[in-house]
Amino acid sequence: MRRSGVVAAVTVAAPAPLPKASPADTLRILLLAAGPLFAKGLIRRRPAMVRFLARTDAEARGIALLARLRAKYGEGPLRLAFPLRGAALILSPRHLRRLLAETPEPFAADTPEKRASLAHFQPRGVLVSSGAERAERRRFNEAVLETGCPVHSLAPALIRLCEGEAASLLARGGFAWPEFQAAWFRMVRAAIFGPAARDDEALTAMLHALRGDANWAFLKPRRRRLRRTFLAAVGEKLRQAPADSLAGLARARATPEAAPEDQIAHWLFAFDAAAIGAFRTLAMLALHPDAAARARRDRPFVRAAMLDTLRLWPTTPAVLRRSERDTDWEGRTLPAGTGLLVHLPFFHRDRGRIPYADRFTPAAWLDGRAEAWPFVPFSAGPAGCPAANLVLLVAGAWIEAAIRRHVVLLPPGTGLDPEALPATFDHFALRLSLRPLPRSRREPALLGAVNPLSPDGDFDG
Ligand code: HEM
Repeated sequence: MRRSGVVAAVTVAAPAPLPKASPADTLRILLLAAGPLFAKGLIRRRPAMVRFLARTDAEARGIALLARLRAKYGEGPLRLAFPLRGAALILSPRHLRRLLAETPEPFAADTPEKRASLAHFQPRGVLVSSGAERAERRRFNEAVLETGCPVHSLAPALIRLCEGEAASLLARGGFAWPEFQAAWFRMVRAAIFGPAARDDEALTAMLHALRGDANWAFLKPRRRRLRRTFLAAVGEKLRQAPADSLAGLARARATPEAAPEDQIAHWLFAFDAAAIGAFRTLAMLALHPDAAARARRDRPFVRAAMLDTLRLWPTTPAVLRRSERDTDWEGRTLPAGTGLLVHLPFFHRDRGRIPYADRFTPAAWLDGRAEAWPFVPFSAGPAGCPAANLVLLVAGAWIEAAIRRHVVLLPPGTGLDPEALPATFDHFALRLSLRPLPRSRREPALLGAVNPLSPDGDFDG
């Protein structure tokens, strides 16, 4: 259709600049949203701080604050009013997907904070590497942890180890977190280095001490001698590990650039998060008897239960990136050098957008809702956790061992409300007890393994 002969001058309005939080809102974000994640210890949890946060419900206030700020400033990224360096908060699922997919270029994973922190015990870890070194260390991690395989090639041996350690623990009739964690780490040492390392508690104690320092990042001087002793002990065990252990596989796939000792230091550290996830999943199954009954006969559901527990309480609650160059966000520019923060509890627990935000909902991992949102307790994309499948396999084996012949029970007075689960879960204070399951309600051992994560751990939505 032809309009009148008058040619209208069309002015294209420049897009509004990316929103910037006021100094007061920036301070609120630091105190209420980012503060608790750092305060409770990103590398090693501080029990007293977790207890404090659980009592004050401060993390729930942080999540609500970010929801309010998104309503006030829009989808972001929301720049923060930092005096010295640029920083921004990711607030929309679309931007979260982009950030994770476009790692490590232009969004580098090796941020200065992570470097300062992880240098305490794994200065050459993949998480704090860049360029060709990152590529080689990532390749090594994926090859040994078998990132793309729902069922690791060492699964039979790993499951035997889990079953063995779980059996001694279950024989006690109940267990608190310290006993669970100790038994778990016996399994971890044997899985990584072979049975001879099972009781080497000194190795784990060295790592725990270094992780405690890592919580302080720049603020604590490095204990170089302890780090050397620890990494040398890892190297020694790596050389001696049997072929059917993770370190045995590592030896076969290592190159000098892969820095295998540092990667293994990360595995030893990160298995703690898997222990926390498994223990809390058992608590969720105790709180939800119907879910426990289903978990006894349905392996994908066991894994979905672990995933939803990690959604509710992500063990890596902050995902950090740094933009290497200017980046364009719908026509608006974020300058090079900006630090980007993803506050995972906000994405996982935003009541305004997720109807079941504060309820245990394993089904969301089986019907596509989790991927579509997305929930990313293991992150995703080229720097996503390369051990997600391995973690689900091992944690699943412990959970199945615990519930197969027992009902797991919470002590009275935990205050856990299935309709409104708290933002902070103080697992340090929890003791789970066990009651034998009547024979008529026992299921035959579960067969087959289907992983609710797609094999590449990526989004579908
Ligand atoms: C519940 C248990 C675990 C959770 C929730 C978890 C989650 C994560 C997350 C969120 C990241 C950060 C990814 C990013 O910055 O985008 C990560 C990185 C990583 N995780 Fe895990 N992880 C767990 C256990 C493990 C275990 C047991 C291992 C090794 C055996 C492991 C190995 C790694 C490695 C090597 C990286 C660095 C990847 C890279 O930078 O390319 N994780 N994990």
